[in-house]
Amino acid sequence: MKTGKLPFTYGKIVSTKAFTNREEEIEKLIKNLKSGINTIIVSPRRRGKSSLVKKAFIELENEKKLKLISLDLFSISSKEEFLHKFASEVIKASASKLDDWIKISKEFFKTLIPKFQFSAEADSEFSISFDYAGIKKDPSEILNLPERIAQKKKIKFIIAIDEFQNLSEYTGFKTFEKKLRAEWQKHKHVTYCLFGSKNHMMADIFNNPSKPFYRFGDIMMLSKIKREKWIPFITNAFKETGKNISKQNAGLITDLMKCHSWYVQQLSHYTWTRTNKRASKREIQDALTELINGNSPLYEREVEICSRTQVNLIKAIIKGKEQLSSTAVMQEFQLGTPNNVSKNVKRLSESGIIEKAGKKYEMLDPAFEIWFKQIFFNVKLKTYFKL
Ligand SMILES: Nc1ncnc2c1ncn2[C@@H]1O[C@H](COP(=O)(O)OP(=O)(O)OP(=O)(O)O)[C@@H](O)[C@H]1O
Ligand SMILES: [Mg+2]
Repeated sequence: MKTGKLPFTYGKIVSTKAFTNREEEIEKLIKNLKSGINTIIVSPRRRGKSSLVKKAFIELENEKKLKLISLDLFSISSKEEFLHKFASEVIKASASKLDDWIKISKEFFKTLIPKFQFSAEADSEFSISFDYAGIKKDPSEILNLPERIAQKKKIKFIIAIDEFQNLSEYTGFKTFEKKLRAEWQKHKHVTYCLFGSKNHMMADIFNNPSKPFYRFGDIMMLSKIKREKWIPFITNAFKETGKNISKQNAGLITDLMKCHSWYVQQLSHYTWTRTNKRASKREIQDALTELINGNSPLYEREVEICSRTQVNLIKAIIKGKEQLSSTAVMQEFQLGTPNNVSKNVKRLSESGIIEKAGKKYEMLDPAFEIWFKQIFFNVKLKTYFKL
């Protein structure tokens, strides 16, 4: 979606105007990264991990002797591809000129022989390749590249890796995971910031005492942006673009979307586009209708792949039931056996539909919940508005 003069952004990483709050998290992240503490960021989907790291990197950009590298594993599908990308980005960050890149490669690779490919369009685009057999035998030369360059050139690297959990889907990950950890933990001049959108996979890599990455670094749990931060963010964004919204209505948007980063932005955006001068509940209700209708194919698909007992479990959770495997709840909502309940809780948590909040479970996606209530409990959208 276009940004231009639009004050709200969703669906992409935000780091400048559309970014709000997170002062404490930014401060902590920057402090960690500057003092060499590896940091893992976890949160449910679309809360703002990628945006937070981007923002921190912008603030670190002018630090002398600090080289920043951002890798996104979203489209990288094998260990070899990862290693190639890792090596290319480290070399690119180490120097600003092509001649130096070649020099560095010659100097720092002893067993692997790098080949360069340059892009015809952009000067700064290049990739590096090695012969696969060499990498397969021993990737350490690549994994230790940043540390060795940093020592020699008296610089430091911060390497951020988004969608880190993708690594665990690569063939041969188990051995590779051990190797990664063994090499990276020796690094004194490289700090890693690892995060990703699949919460349960991230937890399995970092919270499991029997896995190599256990205690690899400081784990930062990203909480929701608070209501009292969203309200001035929304009212100011309206004001700055010549429109108006009351604190109360900004609060309504925030509450409807339960402070969910993406959805507060999306509902604010739809409300803003419908508003001429002053946003009233009418605009917010129309915006909510648009949002729910627009997202409904997604929710339908989500429900389609759920079993009947899983759908029933969602119903029980929405009704605020805590004791999901008590006989009364299991009977009332037809949840099957206690074994079904625990399997379904696991499956719905892993697919990011529910999350534990204190003692009970909650729906993770506020708009999905509104849609679900509309379909299964016949709760009309207008009931959220007292017009
Ligand atoms: N600090 C912030 N201020 C305002 N909006 C934010 C902020 N952080 C995130 N958002 C909103 O949430 C959306 C999702 O953010 P982002 O992509 O950074 O989350 P994520 O946690 O990396 O998501 P995923 O788990 O899907 O990778 C953004 O497009 C933006 O609309
Ligand atoms: Mg992300």
